[in-house]
Amino acid sequence: MDDKLRGRVTKDGIRIYEPADFAGMHAAGRLTATILDEIAPLVVPGATTAEIDEAITRRVEASGAVSATIGYRGYQHASCISVNHVVCHGIPGSKVLKDGDILNIDVTVILDGWYGDSSRMYVAGTPSRKAERLIQVTHDALMKGIEAVRPGNTFGDIGHAIQTYVEANRMSVVRDFCGHGVGRVFHAPPNVLHYGRPGTGPVLEEGMFFTIEPMVNLGRPETKVLADDWTAVTRDKSLSAQFEHAVGVTADGCEIFTLSPGGKFHPTWG
Ligand code: MF3
Ligand code: CO
Ligand code: CO
Repeated sequence: MDDKLRGRVTKDGIRIYEPADFAGMHAAGRLTATILDEIAPLVVPGATTAEIDEAITRRVEASGAVSATIGYRGYQHASCISVNHVVCHGIPGSKVLKDGDILNIDVTVILDGWYGDSSRMYVAGTPSRKAERLIQVTHDALMKGIEAVRPGNTFGDIGHAIQTYVEANRMSVVRDFCGHGVGRVFHAPPNVLHYGRPGTGPVLEEGMFFTIEPMVNLGRPETKVLADDWTAVTRDKSLSAQFEHAVGVTADGCEIFTLSPGGKFHPTWG
């Protein structure tokens, strides 16, 4: 049978993958994480976001994988690079990084038909203390969300864990973008909201594959999309951060497919 037709779909339209499918996601996720590790030294004051994106493009090609974003809805780059008040979907270009800039780099590869989708924060030079705090809270919020991933919990439990943590730190969760089912396709049901109420939403089952990718703002949560139809920014120009992992629900929790082989997921590794 066609691989794409194996398994089943829940009443909420969420595909349940088989135990053997974890290996494909693991390999795709590891490749994305390896690329995100390898480009870290390129994020320095004076570099352009286009240079970083070109290095990612070369690395994807060299690995025998395919970029999931080049050609996706007209997008033309192997990464999204979102600097400072850009919330997500920043387009790589001639922008020159300066000391203290914080940026999210989001890469998705297709390896053997499996989509590896992850993003993390980087800093050019030395970040301000408030930027550092934003990055820490956003990273920790993602990990709180991941801790809520286990069969029997709901997607609302994940969103609630993230929202509660972020708001306790007096920052805000972006509502306009969400995580998504992932696997043999880039974006599938469900919408994985980064806010919510406990016990609401679809129930998690073993074999669900999805991303969690909270965007957190220092100021208000509202965003707007610029005239290029991609770049989303904070309306109040406050700094924004994001981390993204792809996970698969296991019998007693989850497997994180996009763990950094070099332990460089959080930018304070150096
Ligand atoms: N990787 C992004 C996500 O987390 C999607 C980027 S689509 C693009 O879902 F076209 F903007 F690259
Ligand atoms: Co994603
Ligand atoms: Co992504």
